[in-house]
Amino acid sequence: MTRSHSPACFDAPGDEQHQRIVDAIHDHGWSEQDNFIPPSLTLALALECAALATAGTLTLAHVSQGAARSLQPDVRGDQIQWLEAGQSEARDRYLAIMEMLRIALNRGLFLGLEEYESHFAYYAPGASYLQHRDQFRDDDSRTVSVIVYLNADWLPEDGGALRLHPEGLSTQDISPVGSRIAVFLSADMVHEVLPATRDRMSLAGWFRRRP
Ligand code: OGA
Ligand code: MN
Repeated sequence: MTRSHSPACFDAPGDEQHQRIVDAIHDHGWSEQDNFIPPSLTLALALECAALATAGTLTLAHVSQGAARSLQPDVRGDQIQWLEAGQSEARDRYLAIMEMLRIALNRGLFLGLEEYESHFAYYAPGASYLQHRDQFRDDDSRTVSVIVYLNADWLPEDGGALRLHPEGLSTQDISPVGSRIAVFLSADMVHEVLPATRDRMSLAGWFRRRP
């Protein structure tokens, strides 16, 4: 690994950005930050996600867990592939960046996050994900939800916002702009994905603690 690929170098999210995320999660339970991953990495991951979609190797995502686990494309319309270490250089770089975020969240919020799970998500035009929470009813290990967007030149009129419904506050729309990260507490935050007029790609993931 050369120096310029080291996660400690200038193109990785710095301590300041981690601190802004920690502060926002502490204050109101969610955070939105631009330029969380470098543009070159966003592009590499976007190309990989688009190639998986074109090849037809993504699978329709399930709703719920256990006996209630089911396919309901009108409720949840994204197609996914889970990330694993060693799949590509770009994915490994991404996982290294998420590992630094995990450490920063633990340091700042004492959350005891132990693991990270993540998948590519591809929403075809018109696909959406109705209001939900990310924590499962019978498994509370998902603690912090993280979505990093991979879409170049996204405009507000393209739709596809992540709409947060924080309790007691007005709704917040986060446009899926490339390199942007959205972070929120998995147990509390009701949220939804609005339909878009163009392909919408992201990496959705969860930091987990022991159930
Ligand atoms: C999810 C989800 C939000 C987004 O995958 O559970 O809510 O903006 N994604 O893609
Ligand atoms: Mn969700």
